[in-house]
Amino acid sequence: MNKLTIKPLPYAYDALEPVISKKIMELHHDKHYAGYVNNFNNLLDTGKISSFNYNGAIMHEIFWENMRAPQENNLPPEGMFPDFAKFREEFSMVAATVEGSGWAVLWKTESGLAIGQLEKHNLLGLNGAKPVLVLDVWEHAYYLDYLNDRKAYIEKWWSVVNWDDVSKRL
Ligand SMILES: [Fe+2]
Repeated sequence: MNKLTIKPLPYAYDALEPVISKKIMELHHDKHYAGYVNNFNNLLDTGKISSFNYNGAIMHEIFWENMRAPQENNLPPEGMFPDFAKFREEFSMVAATVEGSGWAVLWKTESGLAIGQLEKHNLLGLNGAKPVLVLDVWEHAYYLDYLNDRKAYIEKWWSVVNWDDVSKRL
């Protein structure tokens, strides 16, 4: 396997404010995400493959690209979902009920779109399904801004979803 590189955010650290603060983005990108990349590379030097660190790096790279500056009335393109309100409600519920640290994910599968959860960063055994929209609900993603109110974070997060990026992945 090749080493990973730390990719810069596709926007400024404060671009997602007030939904996600500059402080969170600095810590999240420079410490947590960079940590996964560095730990993966260090273990690779000793001949070990770390799926935890590898998947952590990959998931965060999708997450950064899935977001952009907040917009009022941030809706997906017409026709992306048959019923966006229902999709949003289901995805939010799935994110809110991740036990402990993990992700809510919209998957593109051979039989269509599916919503699911990841425990920690566990991407194993997904039979070619590809994440198109991911939401990090580890506490490091929101605690500084929302304390333990994960639901408030999820609710606000919808205004920073980059639907252009999601469209490209579909
Ligand atoms: Fe994270």
